[in-house]
Amino acid sequence: MSAALAALAIHGRYGRVTKTSLIIDCDPGVDDAVALLLAFGAPDVLDILAITTVAGNVEAGLTARNARLIRQIAGREDVPVHVGAATPLVRPPIVASHFHGESGLGTLPVFEPDAPAAAAEAAQAIIDIVMSRPAGSVSMAVTGPMTNLALALGREPALAARLGPVVVMGGARREGGNITASAEYNIHADPHAADVVFRSGVRTVVLGLDATHQVRATPARLAAVKALDTPAARAAAQLLDFAVWTEQTHVGGDSPPQHDPCTILCLLAPRLFTAVPVDLRVETDSPLTLGHTAVEFRLPDPAAATCRWVTQVDHDGAFALMLEILGR
Ligand code: RIB
Ligand code: CA
Repeated sequence: MSAALAALAIHGRYGRVTKTSLIIDCDPGVDDAVALLLAFGAPDVLDILAITTVAGNVEAGLTARNARLIRQIAGREDVPVHVGAATPLVRPPIVASHFHGESGLGTLPVFEPDAPAAAAEAAQAIIDIVMSRPAGSVSMAVTGPMTNLALALGREPALAARLGPVVVMGGARREGGNITASAEYNIHADPHAADVVFRSGVRTVVLGLDATHQVRATPARLAAVKALDTPAARAAAQLLDFAVWTEQTHVGGDSPPQHDPCTILCLLAPRLFTAVPVDLRVETDSPLTLGHTAVEFRLPDPAAATCRWVTQVDHDGAFALMLEILGR
């Protein structure tokens, strides 16, 4: 499908989406990698200004290598990769390699990518990119611990008012936690960074487990990805196969949730994602509930809220869009 036709399909089916200038901050990570493949595959809608990487699922050197590796598979070496924080703001690092494999990319064959990372470190790159462009013109997708964005906000507080929406994968309310009983991994891995971001007043759209658990790679959907014959689809299928294995092994069931891809799909097709204004606060002290997201829907002035929490996802529409992009 031509990019122009695909763009029409997205615009026609999912509502008019203007071209978005985007920074993707991630910790690839199997699902981060699928999210990157989707983002790289929609150049008609997403102008990716930079990828910034952070320690999370695996250590910082590997998340940066993995972002460069996926970039090469997608043929998008035009997009710079900036290496970010190797440790959280306060707490010790906590990896999730049991869900992503030692490499961070499951069973995907890894290699040293040709193109290097960019010179500037991630937080400075975020500041330089956002502050050199019109207010509200640069959005972010954050799919890992929020350390880089917190560091950037601390160094340049004006960023909060200048950044376009920041679409975050993180947190949980109804679904409970996935790394502890009450915390989702990205927030638990750096709760102090998340607290800085949500207190900064930057506009956020938050896809917690309440949303991402609605979007699952069922066997039928995975078969549809495998029926596509493109480099992106082949890589995505191998990543999703590993996600099925970890879901079966560590959680139970055969349909892994597509956490990080939801951020890109939300940017591409916001009409598929229902979000409501909330006040979101993060637990940063309690050893028992560290990283818990307290999501308050009862607001005195909903219009003043800077945070929107996704409560409902049209998951069939989301997967149809995923297939459309991977099939290009
Ligand atoms: O809880 C899911 C999140 O934690 C995803 O971003 C996944 O990549 C892991 O980082
Ligand atoms: Ca991630």
